[in-house]
Amino acid sequence: MSKKPIIVFEGIEGSGKSHHIKKIVNFLKKKKVDFLFLREPGGNANSEKIRKLILSKKTKFQPKTDLLLYIAARNENISILKKNYKKKIILIDRFIDSTLAYQHYGMGLDLNFINNVNKFILDGLKVDFTFLNVVSEKNMIKRLRKRKKLNRYDKFDNNFYKKVQKGFIKMAQKKPKKYFIVNSNLEIKSNEKLIINIVKDLI
Ligand code: TMP
Repeated sequence: MSKKPIIVFEGIEGSGKSHHIKKIVNFLKKKKVDFLFLREPGGNANSEKIRKLILSKKTKFQPKTDLLLYIAARNENISILKKNYKKKIILIDRFIDSTLAYQHYGMGLDLNFINNVNKFILDGLKVDFTFLNVVSEKNMIKRLRKRKKLNRYDKFDNNFYKKVQKGFIKMAQKKPKKYFIVNSNLEIKSNEKLIINIVKDLI
C-alpha cells in the first residue's frame, strides 16, 4: 500500500532545489501517481497574496514581521495539507525548516518562539522526509552571483546564506533518517537518479 508521505525540499537560493522538484513532479505525472504540490510561501490564493507582500522588492519589513507573515502564509496551507494528509503524496517546496534556517539561523530570531508557533499552526501534522540541497561555499558564491535579484530574499549577502545553509545542515544532522543531503556540487544527473530512487522507496 502506498505510504502517501509529506516530502519537503529545502536549500538556499541556487542550491538546485527547484530543478529536482520539477524532476520529481514530472516523474510522478508520468507514473500517473496522484500528488499535491505546494510551495512556501504561497501554494494557494491566500498564501500567494502574502508571498507577494513579503517578497516584493518594494517591501521593507522588520525581520519579526517577515517571520509572522511566513507563518501566516503557512497557516493558509494547513487546511489543504490536512485534507490531503495520507490521502495523497504531498510535495512541499520549503516548509518549517526554512523558517528556522532563515529567520532563526540567518536573522537571529528566537528558536523557541518559532518552534512553538509552528507547532501551534501545524496541529500534529508531520513531515515524513526532507531533501536538503547543499552547495560548497565556492559554488554558493558563484551561483548567488549569477542569480538575478528576483525578489527581496535574493538580495542578502553571502554571509547570510552561509549561516542559513549551516542551520539547514544542523537540522538535517540531528535527524539523519528523516533527511537526505543532496550534494549539489556533484553531477546533476546522478543526483536526479539518487533522489528519484529515494522517492520510489518513500512512496
Ligand atoms: P523561493 O524563492 O524558494 O520560493 O523562496 C522564497 C524565499 O523565502 C527564500 O529566500 C526563503 C524565504 N523563506 C523564509 O525566509 N522563511 C520561510 O519560512 C520560508 C518558507 C521561506
